[in-house]
Amino acid sequence: MDSREFAKTLGKQVAGFCKSLDNKLPAYSYIPLTTDEMRVKVMQSRLFNEIRAGEIFGGWLKSTPELDVKKTLARAVHEEYEHATFLEEALRSKGATPYDYQALPAQMAMFNAFEGLTDTVERIAAFPMAGEGVADYLIAKCLQAGTVPSWITDPYRRIHQDEEQHGNYPFDILVKYAITAEKQERAARAVAMSLVLRRAYFENLDRWVYEDKIY
Ligand SMILES: [Fe+2]
Ligand SMILES: [Fe+2]
Repeated sequence: MDSREFAKTLGKQVAGFCKSLDNKLPAYSYIPLTTDEMRVKVMQSRLFNEIRAGEIFGGWLKSTPELDVKKTLARAVHEEYEHATFLEEALRSKGATPYDYQALPAQMAMFNAFEGLTDTVERIAAFPMAGEGVADYLIAKCLQAGTVPSWITDPYRRIHQDEEQHGNYPFDILVKYAITAEKQERAARAVAMSLVLRRAYFENLDRWVYEDKIY
């Protein structure tokens, strides 16, 4: 398949997953949450994601031969730690300790799975495209909801701006490098893996926020 057509197919797959969340928005989106105690828990979990995302992108640098992708990943590392700073500040403003948090089992599994991917096309499809695509979809919803407090929406407005600015880079990388049937097959499986693990993380986070259970 033409790589642009292929990248569009993956984009549609991610968009379909996003739509499937609309009926019952996860705690991750902040929208259904009713107390600051719950919101702090979600933000701590998402702060962990920023830190872990930077680690993953940075960890991929040496094994990424494509220089343009390498540079993009390096910029992404820096950006994730800027996001982490925004969330740390927001948590401190609520009197919370930002890193008083232990990763949930499904959250650990999701990031460990990203970390284990070895091919550029697979990596970009699984994480920047599918993973961050879903995250940013829910950030946009959170900002539009009008019911989420400003100590949450202020930092996420800045994060959303960053994600919007370079929103197309995973697509462009796939167009450029997902040029064989084998690469496309691997990328499609990686997106499916990412979405399955994302759903598990959202469910795990819901369970922790609403029932104080970690599995
Ligand atoms: Fe990001
Ligand atoms: Fe981020």
